[in-house]
Amino acid sequence: MAMPFSTLFLASGNPHKIEELTDLLAPFSLELRSTKDLSDPHEVEEDQPTLEGNALKKARFWFDATGIPALADDTGLEVHSLDGAPGVYSARYAGENVTYQDNVDKLLRELKGKTDRRARFRTVLALVTADGEYTWEGVCDGVITEHPAGGGGFGYDPVFRPDGYEETFAELSSAEKNRISHRGRALQAFAADLEQWSESHQPEKKEDQGTPGTSGTS
Ligand code: IMP
Repeated sequence: MAMPFSTLFLASGNPHKIEELTDLLAPFSLELRSTKDLSDPHEVEEDQPTLEGNALKKARFWFDATGIPALADDTGLEVHSLDGAPGVYSARYAGENVTYQDNVDKLLRELKGKTDRRARFRTVLALVTADGEYTWEGVCDGVITEHPAGGGGFGYDPVFRPDGYEETFAELSSAEKNRISHRGRALQAFAADLEQWSESHQPEKKEDQGTPGTSGTS
């Protein structure tokens, strides 16, 4: 498949995410670079009030720094009975410099005794190139389980059970998680636009239309 670019910079310092993104982008034969390849990887502060703001901030920074089209994502876990928390603050729900376990423990404490355990993961992917800025969204609906289960994945995976499954994300294979996950769906939307792009139909630019592609919003 012909691509509008042959090298893509993955603007993430999280090795789990780089691994997932690398798996998901494998069919596209793109040369992938990331902060892992840099001797002094700068950490872009995620201080924007929205997922979209953070994703665009990271992608802009790395496109400006490298000149390579840069893809960044930001993800939040939005819990219905907590009014959408932890949302954009998912990484530091239990405080600064906390572990995934600390965040999971806090979430289970906050939900203790609550019967409505509906939640969703939402990812915004942002691509910044010399031609413009684009965003895509992916959503995965599910519930927060009473107890952690499974040893795979990362973050809140042990307590997130996607709708239609008996297992948590941490119990699913990475291939299965990638197929249905928020990030997987956002990437599938990105991939669909890449295909269109390769046929010279550029997706609408963010400045004109807002989010050009939305996936998995059920
Ligand atoms: P990020 O902004 O994409 O790094 O995600 C923020 C936080 O959301 C991470 O620190 C994780 O705790 C959580 N998170 C993001 N993606 C996932 C996922 O696929 N599974 C579980 N937790 C995730």
